[in-house]
Parts: sequence; C-alpha cells; structure tokens
Amino acid sequence: MIKPDAVANGHIGAILDKITKSGFKIVALKLIALSEEKAGEFYSVHKERGFYKDLVAFMSSGPVVAAILEKDNAIEDYRKLIGATDPAKAEPGTIRNLFAKSIDANAVHGSDSDENAEIEGNFFFSAFERV
Ligand code: CMP
Repeated sequence: MIKPDAVANGHIGAILDKITKSGFKIVALKLIALSEEKAGEFYSVHKERGFYKDLVAFMSSGPVVAAILEKDNAIEDYRKLIGATDPAKAEPGTIRNLFAKSIDANAVHGSDSDENAEIEGNFFFSAFERV
C-alpha cells in the first residue's frame, strides 16, 4: 500500500517505478480512500498498541494506493526495498528513506508474511480485480 502522505506528495509514480524496476509484477492496483472504520479493520492486529488511534486517523486522512505484487521471495525482497518502519532508520535508497517523513507517515506498507499478504490482498481486491 502507498500511504496517504506519499499519495498527497505526488510520489505514486516514483514508488511504482521503483517497485516494478525491482522485479515485482503488479497483479492488482487501485486508488481508494479508507474510512476510519476500514483503516481500523485493516490494522486491527495493532488494536492494543499505543499508536493505533493515530495510525487509523492518519490512514483515513487521504487516499491510498493498494496493490498486490508478485515475485519470488516477495515478502523479504519488498521489505528490503522499502526499508525500516522508522524512516530515520531506513537504508539510503530505500522507499522510506527517499519518500517518508515519520513513523506514521512512512510512505508505504508491506505485508509481513505470505499469510498476511493473502488476508490483506483479499481486504482490498475481489477475484475480478486481479489479473
Ligand atoms: P506499517 O508497516 O504500515 O504497519 C503498522 C504501522 O504502524 C507502521 O507501518 C507505522 O506506520 C505505524 N507505527 C506507528 N508507530 C509505530 C511503532 N512504534 N512501531 C511500529 N509501527 C508503528
């Protein structure tokens, strides 16, 4: 997912370019505004964390771009490409190092396992919306 900060700052094209040039195939893609309720549902795993309320408010503050990506070793390679959750700790050249400003406004989200990728893909896309 490309988060509201990166969408608002005009980075959709640059981020998708980095993703495709890194060998990922886009198999589903959409621009969508999450309500507070839907953002809360997406991040429900973090419900008990102190940052949950701010995270939900931020993620429903503007449109996001949702995508399903395919690649061998996709989870690990995508996490390397985006860099650490806190952009201050993200390696030079990573998406968060280049485009993110803070731990909430950190430009992109990535699934942390194949199982969660399945759940998160199903959250955004029907079978009809995938190629
Ligand atoms: P993301 O990969 O989308 O998953 C959960 C998000 O919570 C994370 O990116 C951050 O944007 C946000 N967040 C805010 N504070 C923290 C924190 N202390 N630890 C982890 N994630 C945080």
